[in-house]
Amino acid sequence: MTTTSVPVPTATTDAKRKIFGMIQAFWQSQCLYVATRLGIFNLLHDEGAQSAETLAEKTDTKVDRLYVVLRALAHLDVLEERADRIFAPTEASALLVTNRGPSIGHFAMHITEPVQWDAWNQLEAALHTGEVAFERANNKSVYDFCQDDPWSGDVFINAMSFLTDHAVNALLDVYDFDRFHTIMDVGGGQGGLIGSIVKRFGCKGMLFDVPYVTATAPAYLEKLGVAADAIDIIPGDVFEAVPTGADAIVMKYFISAWNDDDARIILKNCRAALAPHGKIVLLQAFVPDLDEPKVAPDGIMPGLFAVQIMVSVPGGAWRTRQQFKKLFEECGFKLEKQVDTGTNLSAMEFGLA
Ligand SMILES: C[S@@+](CC[C@H](N)C(=O)[O-])C[C@H]1O[C@@H](n2cnc3c(N)ncnc32)[C@H](O)[C@@H]1O
Repeated sequence: MTTTSVPVPTATTDAKRKIFGMIQAFWQSQCLYVATRLGIFNLLHDEGAQSAETLAEKTDTKVDRLYVVLRALAHLDVLEERADRIFAPTEASALLVTNRGPSIGHFAMHITEPVQWDAWNQLEAALHTGEVAFERANNKSVYDFCQDDPWSGDVFINAMSFLTDHAVNALLDVYDFDRFHTIMDVGGGQGGLIGSIVKRFGCKGMLFDVPYVTATAPAYLEKLGVAADAIDIIPGDVFEAVPTGADAIVMKYFISAWNDDDARIILKNCRAALAPHGKIVLLQAFVPDLDEPKVAPDGIMPGLFAVQIMVSVPGGAWRTRQQFKKLFEECGFKLEKQVDTGTNLSAMEFGLA
């Protein structure tokens, strides 16, 4: 048999491969979601390689259906497929294990769970109406949803802790937090960042977040090996007031969760809480300007992440460095320092103007 093919200019072929890849990307993330949620990666890493039949039995799924998903994950190098439909874990699947603490598996599940999926389904409509797509789809904010739904809440909290763990060591290696006596993490989740800062630099810590999140902090901090009296855990609402007593406030992926009007209220409350020599350290990925690299060193693409934030977070906005600088200046701060860390996380430090 002879095979003939019509030559296609390389540029067109490459562009087409790229578009095919983009189209298939949502299938990939849904396969990851389903396998993570079913606990396939936990089973393989706890018990070793096993057949599709065994995995189907343990996850109460139809084997012939599950096999199609597992095979696709093997083609994506997330699993290894051996003869007789045996699947083995890989380096990539190890990252997706969710029963040994916060992992990228929690982040995968949070970002691709059905309510997020429903939100993306509303993107086009939301572009016309200006609504938050998540709220249009689910009739409540993503924060309220996570608070009301125990599984989603747990996954969200662990996803945030994973993102912190992922970037925190690289940050602490380059940032001189030892200048500060008391550091408060506003919107600090379970306390992964402030716990690590306190452990590394020996300063006093404060953790401020909404009550359902701070309630989970003591157990998390204990696991991190942080002494119980090292961090004051303060539940509250940043729109009402920010606790006083810190000479530095850190905010990681917090201001980016709010629109400019809300961000101004938060920054004014922070300004009122800070001593005159106090600083705010903004920790974020920044959307690149035209002349900046589009992909962060760890593979995160801030310009694409900005779409996810717009889809799911009320008023959420990832911004460029210039946009953050302007926002802070409007609220009485001045930019004093910028630091990149080698992950998606960079820092902008502001003092009182
Ligand atoms: C995107 S998460 C970032 C969490 C953490 N800084 C991190 O990087 O992992 C935003 C955080 O803001 C908290 N938050 C939301 N509304 C808040 C409010 N009104 N007052 C205080 N914290 C709030 C959420 O509970 C959540 O922990």
